[in-house]
Amino acid sequence: MEKNRIATLTMDDGRSVELPIMSGTLGPDVIDIHNLGKLGIFTYDPAFFSTASCTSEITFIDGDAGLLYYRGYPIEQLAEQSDFLEVCYLLLNGELPDAGQKAEFNRKVTSHTMVHDQITRFFSGFRRDAHPMAVMVGVVGALSAFYHDSLDINNPEHRDISALRMLAKVPTIAAMAHKYYTGAPFMFPKNKFGYAENLMYMMFATPAEEYIPNPVLVRALDRILILHADHEQNASTSTVRLAGSSGANPFACISSGIAALWGPAHGGANEAALNMLMEIGDVSRVKEYVQGVKDKKYRLMGFGHRVYKNMDPRASVMRQTCHEVLKELKLENNKLFELAMELERTALSDPYFIDHKLYPNVDFYSGIVLSALGIPTNMFTVIFAVARTIGWISQWNEMIASGDHKIGRPRQLYRGAVKRDYVPEKKR
Ligand code: CMC
Repeated sequence: MEKNRIATLTMDDGRSVELPIMSGTLGPDVIDIHNLGKLGIFTYDPAFFSTASCTSEITFIDGDAGLLYYRGYPIEQLAEQSDFLEVCYLLLNGELPDAGQKAEFNRKVTSHTMVHDQITRFFSGFRRDAHPMAVMVGVVGALSAFYHDSLDINNPEHRDISALRMLAKVPTIAAMAHKYYTGAPFMFPKNKFGYAENLMYMMFATPAEEYIPNPVLVRALDRILILHADHEQNASTSTVRLAGSSGANPFACISSGIAALWGPAHGGANEAALNMLMEIGDVSRVKEYVQGVKDKKYRLMGFGHRVYKNMDPRASVMRQTCHEVLKELKLENNKLFELAMELERTALSDPYFIDHKLYPNVDFYSGIVLSALGIPTNMFTVIFAVARTIGWISQWNEMIASGDHKIGRPRQLYRGAVKRDYVPEKKR
């Protein structure tokens, strides 16, 4: 049996508190402080640098060693040998499916790919030039209005059907957001296609032409989806958990996750990284640009990570995928890729980046791959949202299924005015 271990916190007023130390299966121990508030003591950790917000069995990251596991399986193995829907099953259910379970899961997801016809009307309410992420936040949230019959979050069957619906419909909505922006007609899903293939079909096919997906490019998109599927308690996942902790319905929770993902420090980084490469424009400007980063005029987008202080393992896979895609498209001499390689070389040998432990993250390469696939920059974060939907649902489901979650309610260090009396307007 595990020995009870404790940490002792001693305050400068002489008070002393004993706190249990908890261990996981991997990763650092955590000190259980959840009873401290009862003693009138709060901890202060605004951006959660040192806070484990929950217990989870889904994803493990070791940022110093550069490791990422989904349910114990290394991301490199999943990216090489699995496919996105199998990874979805794994994240949601905890184990890899056997052949029968896999076929059944794929069939269920496929049977939910269409959206209610009323959903198509939402689109015309948006300006044509609306950012597709704005459309995603609105339309995914609006799904809550369509499934009143299955929104009892305490009913596991309701949670299952909501998970399948979201997994199946988010790509359809994403492709519709793209079509709406470009003014092209919506393409209904074609269920003979696989998940990534269908997404490409709905984004790129037109009723006028036959569309034949390129298997190398489909595989690259599938890999992007696998690499972005989950990443433990990041900003958007924590947002989903916090929204879900109040008992909000899953569609509303996922919509809040999409909103949190949009920011350039999170899911918006792939768009920002590609824009940055285009702004630099030429290999000859790399040194000057890197100097600007060191002078803190701007950040090198696609570099650095809160958790990884080593190479992001997803970045290594994405770098390889980048080569494969550019080769397939005969774009090996692609100017942006050459620029990215030079930027990477320069940054990785510069003491500023070495000292700050700043390595390329997955978004440094995913922007180049997405762009080579023909996906416009404003859709990059949308693709990330499609991929992360399964992570959000799995984390939300884990929290609700645990049965002992409470509403998330942080406290604060108040530094505002002390009590004062109201001053009538004439006397101000
Ligand atoms: N370029 C230049 N300097 C940086 C960068 C960067 N990309 N990232 C961090 N730093 C510096 C920062 O200036 C600070 O320096 P100093 O200590 O001298 O003041 C130090 O590193 C620590 O920065 P921080 O902001 O406290 O670190 P953080 O852990 O809060 O930030 C981050 C993590 C991802 C927000 C940040 O590295 C960043 O802004 N990167 C660029 C955006 C990006 O690529 N985001 C995608 C993350 S991967 C996709 C995902 O999982 O969402």
